[in-house]
Amino acid sequence: MEKRRILTGDRPTGKLHLGHYVGSIANRVKLQREYQCNFIIADLHTLTTRPAKEEIEEITENAREMVLDYLSCGIDPEQSVIYLQSAVHETYELNLLFEMLVTVPRLQRLPSLKDMANSANLSEMPFGLLGYPVLQSADILGPRAHLVPVGRDNESHVELTREIARRFNYLYGEVFPVPDTLIGDVPTLVGTDGSGKMSKSLNNAILLSDDPKTVEKKVRGMYTDPNRVRADVPGKVEGNPVFIYHTIFNPNREEVAELSERYRKGAVGDVEVKEKLAAALNAFLAPIRERRAEFEARSGYVDEVIYDGTLKMREQQQRTLLAAKKAMGLTGVWNKISRKAETARKKRSKIA
Ligand code: TRP
Repeated sequence: MEKRRILTGDRPTGKLHLGHYVGSIANRVKLQREYQCNFIIADLHTLTTRPAKEEIEEITENAREMVLDYLSCGIDPEQSVIYLQSAVHETYELNLLFEMLVTVPRLQRLPSLKDMANSANLSEMPFGLLGYPVLQSADILGPRAHLVPVGRDNESHVELTREIARRFNYLYGEVFPVPDTLIGDVPTLVGTDGSGKMSKSLNNAILLSDDPKTVEKKVRGMYTDPNRVRADVPGKVEGNPVFIYHTIFNPNREEVAELSERYRKGAVGDVEVKEKLAAALNAFLAPIRERRAEFEARSGYVDEVIYDGTLKMREQQQRTLLAAKKAMGLTGVWNKISRKAETARKKRSKIA
């Protein structure tokens, strides 16, 4: 039986960090076996807030770094498709067709878009940013995906996609599966500074590609219990980023339990807790780093992966787009005009 299809992905912002790993990448690696997975490098979506020439120039390198991280974590291009959104022209066309099926107030009500406008310091909403989730719907429905694994922040966009799919099918006939959302149950990973979510722009991230020394340095500088001015002061483990990371990344449960207990009693120094965390993180990252080095050494390999995936995705979306236009009766318009034009021209050339 044919596998059900997944579509998900990211805007290419460069190297990925531990937050990406626990939030989405680990899950994607697992899903590849059961589903036919498609991973979009959503570079068109970056244009909604970063349309400047210099910003576009960064896309190529950012995409390569991101895909290197995908591959190093175990996303397998033999099983899954990784593709460049801007090179699949059918996406642009589907986007326009879907724009007719959504109202402006529906989009204006989405808090995610206002958030994006705010964080990009845009005082007014660009038309393209308002259309962000419509474009995302084209991404999802283009390969006729059945399942979309995303974070909470994208949940409302998949809901809109479902509405568009239903509306299209209702108006023109069944073309699109109505996709389900798969929301990860992992809460967002706290940053090394303990303030909210791990993010490169907040400078509180540990990258999957950081070398051992960098990891040690970042862990040494991590935020812990601020009330604990000396090693003999009892500390708080709950909500403490150092212990949150220990719990997620240190497979030695006994060590973590023992450190927590001593920390609570004020019987361990921060240095020891952090050294053990750095060791655990480095052990976790070692095989990822190793694979990354291998892929980097194979000249042109990442580019080939993206290239092959993009060609595959184009073929698939060409079929979808044709089916959509046929269902709408849109192909018929041009067919009738061109057929009549051609026969008229032939007749004339016979007479002449
Ligand atoms: N909106 C996603 C983000 O937050 C990126 C994205 C674009 C996406 N198209 C998608 C995610 C389709 C899932 C499905 O970066």
